[in-house]
Amino acid sequence: MNYKIRFSGRSHQYTSDEIDVVVEAMRNAEPLTQGAYRNAFEKALADFQGITGNTFAVGCATDALEMAAQLCQFKPGDELIIPSHTYTASAYPFIKKGANLVWADIDLQSRVVTAETIERCLSPKTKAILVVHLYGFVADMDPILELARSRNIIVIEDAAQAIGARYKGRRCGTMGDMGVFSFHSHKNITTLGEGGALWVRNDQFASIVPMLRHNGHCNFPFERDDYWIPAMGNVDLPELNGEPIMPSNYCLGEIECALGAALLKRIDAINAEKRRRALWFIDSLSEHGRLEFHRVDTDRHNYHLLAARMTDGSRDRFIRKMANEYGVQCVVQYYPLNRYDLYKKLDLGDAQTPNTDLFYDNMISFPFQQTLCDDDLSYMIDCTVKTLKSL
Ligand SMILES: Cc1ncc(COP(=O)(O)O)c(C=O)c1O
Repeated sequence: MNYKIRFSGRSHQYTSDEIDVVVEAMRNAEPLTQGAYRNAFEKALADFQGITGNTFAVGCATDALEMAAQLCQFKPGDELIIPSHTYTASAYPFIKKGANLVWADIDLQSRVVTAETIERCLSPKTKAILVVHLYGFVADMDPILELARSRNIIVIEDAAQAIGARYKGRRCGTMGDMGVFSFHSHKNITTLGEGGALWVRNDQFASIVPMLRHNGHCNFPFERDDYWIPAMGNVDLPELNGEPIMPSNYCLGEIECALGAALLKRIDAINAEKRRRALWFIDSLSEHGRLEFHRVDTDRHNYHLLAARMTDGSRDRFIRKMANEYGVQCVVQYYPLNRYDLYKKLDLGDAQTPNTDLFYDNMISFPFQQTLCDDDLSYMIDCTVKTLKSL
């Protein structure tokens, strides 16, 4: 179908400065991976986040989640509390690394987990909690951290969608024990389609992440007269608490890193623009009812996505009409993970998550890429009003 406004797979365009940065890195980067651009990107990201270091560029957020899962060192029976209302990559890396998943419900209004929904899932086996700042809204971290700290539970923030958003002055992804970011094509900033980052609070974790990220490569722990003897460098088994962790290749290339550093300079502006548009959209529809948005007029929300819940059960008719009569491609997002075949086959098909079910079964995600202009938004508001009136 030829949509007038598509739900685009690409979030933004690049400025000519950003294109110049890419071209410059293409010409000059040497090597093309794991060099000066990566180091500069990691430094810029840590500065942006207001932290001192331990920030690692990786191939994608899924890589970062897999590394975070390895650093948790799950033992048989250990549990991870995680919302089922999230993208699948939040979850399956933890299954791969031995965690038993326990599905937490979301808060119906904010669509993210809370200390209360997490508390219901706690057990003596709880080893870690994954908090997903879904849609770009930062969950209420203080009570979650308090709950976790008192029980020695690891907290991982999946900030894949929320880069730049703040909670009580702190950037998301820096409040728990580990933070994960995505620079995938859909995200508020994208490093040419793929990219991600991992932050770890613990210096012991940080000391093995470089080996974990790059095939176990490290220096020999002794002086050598000839740099090629016995080999150019060593490959060793990263160890944490006396136990081995198998490495892989999770590296991000230099061109993406060069671009990432440039994009960080305008992420706050992108987020502010998205928030301005979201508030305009939400407020323009407020008197028409039936569509319940999550309205947040602070930088706690970066409005990566613009999601609403239809309160009168007419969601499918609404989406059909918007698509067929007005060419606006709304979508439905974050099928509760327990409903997917993959999770059912792993015996994770059951979840006590009424808010998740109620939200998902009535949710609408409007096209909201940065590349839309105010005229597109205005058109979408008009069509939404007309559609609501006609249903
Ligand atoms: C909440 C969430 N977590 C994790 C991911 C995985 O990110 P990536 O595509 O960078 O691996 C995504 C990406 O869509 C996401 O939305």
